[in-house]
Amino acid sequence: MRIVILTGAGISAESGLGTFRDKGGLWERHDLKDLATPEGFARNPALVHDFYNMRRRTVRDAQPNPAHHALARLQKDKRYAVTLVTQNVDDLHERAGSDPVIHMHGTHLVALCAGCAHRWPAPEEMRPQDRCPACSDGVARPDVVWFGETPYHLDEILPAIAESDLFVAIGTSGVVYPAAGFVELATEAGAETLELNLEPSYRASAFDAARFGPASEVVPAWVDEILSA
Ligand code: APR
Repeated sequence: MRIVILTGAGISAESGLGTFRDKGGLWERHDLKDLATPEGFARNPALVHDFYNMRRRTVRDAQPNPAHHALARLQKDKRYAVTLVTQNVDDLHERAGSDPVIHMHGTHLVALCAGCAHRWPAPEEMRPQDRCPACSDGVARPDVVWFGETPYHLDEILPAIAESDLFVAIGTSGVVYPAAGFVELATEAGAETLELNLEPSYRASAFDAARFGPASEVVPAWVDEILSA
């Protein structure tokens, strides 16, 4: 069975990482135009680096939760061809044992040269004066996909959805496209669709089925059901 799983910030919420749009979320406390757009980075790179340095430290001190571990278990079961796509820029899926993980919004653990597009492991603290080690004059930025930029790996993700038997969205609000539209592509491909979330997302009506509750409970329960089939 071919399963495509899309995760969002909700799967990492119980690991202590804030989500974006829940009450008190990151986009309530910060202006995303300043922190998650190329224009914001050009205007004030120090502010953007401070934000991602803080997120990098928070992720470093966080642990994968039972939802991450359950997906890693599912990925290891050879009866299922699992494509794990995440909108998250943290590495909690990898630290739970998932491999591969497709980061469609990049990861803040990698630095990107705004000039030559060279990539290297991001230092704990990135600073506006950091320059690219390859071309030496390009400005270093976090390798994350900002609003207005093209998500990564769609050439892998879209065919996987087109051939999937089951599409599962976990902990995502269904606000940001193209990820929010994946459920329609899965339905068009004839796949069953399932939403696992704390509450109905903005795309809830597009799913065949849903289970609500904290990811650390709902995801392991769903995976155990699948693996005992
Ligand atoms: N268990 C399961 N789901 C949860 C939990 C939890 N413990 N806590 C919150 N959620 C759900 C919320 O109900 C919501 O649907 O997680 C979702 C979080 O939504 P957002 O904060 O919008 O995060 P996400 O959907 O990942 O955002 C998508 O927006 O800002 C951009 O690039 C950023 O990748 C991000 C994208």
